[in-house]
Amino acid sequence: MSRSRGERAVLGRAVVSLFIAVGSAAAIEPTSVTLTPDVLKEIAQVEAEIDRIEAQTIDRLAAPPDNQVQQIELLGKAMLYDKQLSVNRNEACAFCHMPETGFTGPVSELNRTTGSYPGSVRTRYSERKPQTHSYAPLSPVLHYNPGQDDLVGGNFWDMRATGRRLGNPAAEQAEGPPTNPVEMGLPDMVCARPGPPPASDPKPVHLSDADRGRAASTFDQMAQSIAGYEASAEVTPFTSKFDAVMGGKAQFTPDEQAGYALFRGKANCNSCHRDGGPGEDPLFTDFTASNIGTPANPQLPYYLEDKPDALDYTANPAGRSFIDGGVGSFLVKGHPLSEPSVPDARWLPLAPKNNGRVQVPTLRNVDKRPYPDFVKAYGHNGYFKSLKAIVHFYNTRDVLPRCGSNDPGEGVTCWPAPESTANMNTKTVGNLGLTDAEENQLVSFMQALTDGYMSRD
Ligand code: HEC
Ligand code: HEC
Repeated sequence: MSRSRGERAVLGRAVVSLFIAVGSAAAIEPTSVTLTPDVLKEIAQVEAEIDRIEAQTIDRLAAPPDNQVQQIELLGKAMLYDKQLSVNRNEACAFCHMPETGFTGPVSELNRTTGSYPGSVRTRYSERKPQTHSYAPLSPVLHYNPGQDDLVGGNFWDMRATGRRLGNPAAEQAEGPPTNPVEMGLPDMVCARPGPPPASDPKPVHLSDADRGRAASTFDQMAQSIAGYEASAEVTPFTSKFDAVMGGKAQFTPDEQAGYALFRGKANCNSCHRDGGPGEDPLFTDFTASNIGTPANPQLPYYLEDKPDALDYTANPAGRSFIDGGVGSFLVKGHPLSEPSVPDARWLPLAPKNNGRVQVPTLRNVDKRPYPDFVKAYGHNGYFKSLKAIVHFYNTRDVLPRCGSNDPGEGVTCWPAPESTANMNTKTVGNLGLTDAEENQLVSFMQALTDGYMSRD
């Protein structure tokens, strides 16, 4: 116990004075990651907002709605905003998923730089950008479609929350972050005490089998309520301008209309980011995975986590040589930090053709931001910093010359090499022949995917 109190003190100081010194590497530019006063200020604002929403939710729980589904949703909301679910009692799920950004990362300065977010232990960052959790519960349970010869469904960039045990990928997803050492960091799904566990003991709380079974099913229920809230009208509302136009209640501007035509036609975005069809909701993903050739994001602090931290924990032994293998990597070796679902060994033969591929993300709310200058990061590693940048990439990846990162022309007149070229899509993306104006029209169209344009009543 005293050890964990001591650790807490150490971590408290680390929050204010985090500085990761970086050696240079030949392939990747040096990075330096500091939680600057600006970041700390933004984090403090986000934390205050989380506390405010949590307090409001607890007030609503005092006089709960009269039907059980809404009660479960409200309970899920209370847990999503509860920082007690983290080892240092400082990080709620919502820390990386806030409403004002469409339930993804709420700190502009982190989006602009690291792309990924610090965990409850503030010196630890994961290797990926927070995805939105809205619409995530509508992903199918991960399955193999032999006609398409493809895996479809699941949650996470690498689809590893399969949903096959609980019948819902988002419910299994919610069991990942609480025990992920670079996220909420609890040592065991039961509770943090007596912690931290010895590395050799995955179940440090030595309960009887029956009691562990009860704890495990309570954990399932927690996760199911969180997924229930994510699926609720508050988080998954279908109220964008796009929905209004489809319902005959609004009209696109000429640019949005032209962008939509490109999206479905010349630019062929629709072949992966499906805009619906008979019997199909427009979720702007087909729930398969692809490698579009996104460059590595050298600013991911994860590259630097190759030495034991203050708690003697090493998140990324591979250091700078880490390459995100996406779905293929999950199929071969699972995910070392968070594996809420049991991998299915029968899918192992699919690994080679899934190497480097990540799940097609929804485009709903991609532009949702609290104010116009707020930076959002895009792609699994947060490499892209604007919608214009990623559209320009789709348009010119195979046209412009390669350059190193930090080249003055990077992202405009040249592109760094892909993080991984394994299974990279070269048929649909990379050379779209779009004009600058057409790129902008695609951006206008995506801006019409922000929820809250119309009310639901
Ligand atoms: C420290 C930041 C952080 C915290 C805290 C966090 N997440 Fe996430 N979330 C992420 C990242 C990063 C990803 C993508 C991870 C990956 O693919 O491996 C993600 C992915 C997800 C997804 C998958 C969406 C999809 O379409 O597949 C859902 C759902 C989600 N988070 C919900 C939650 C819930 C619920 C909690 C709390 C129990 C939580 N997150 C806590 C960063 C965070
Ligand atoms: C071959 C399938 C495919 C096609 C075609 C495609 N995308 Fe994507 N899209 C993806 C995948 C996969 C990702 C995630 C890439 C990554 O993380 O490296 C992605 C990511 C994105 C993102 C970032 C979303 C986020 O939340 O991070 C945007 C925006 C986007 N695509 C827009 C478009 C547009 C616009 C087009 C058409 C010009 C398009 N995509 C064509 C598969 C596709």
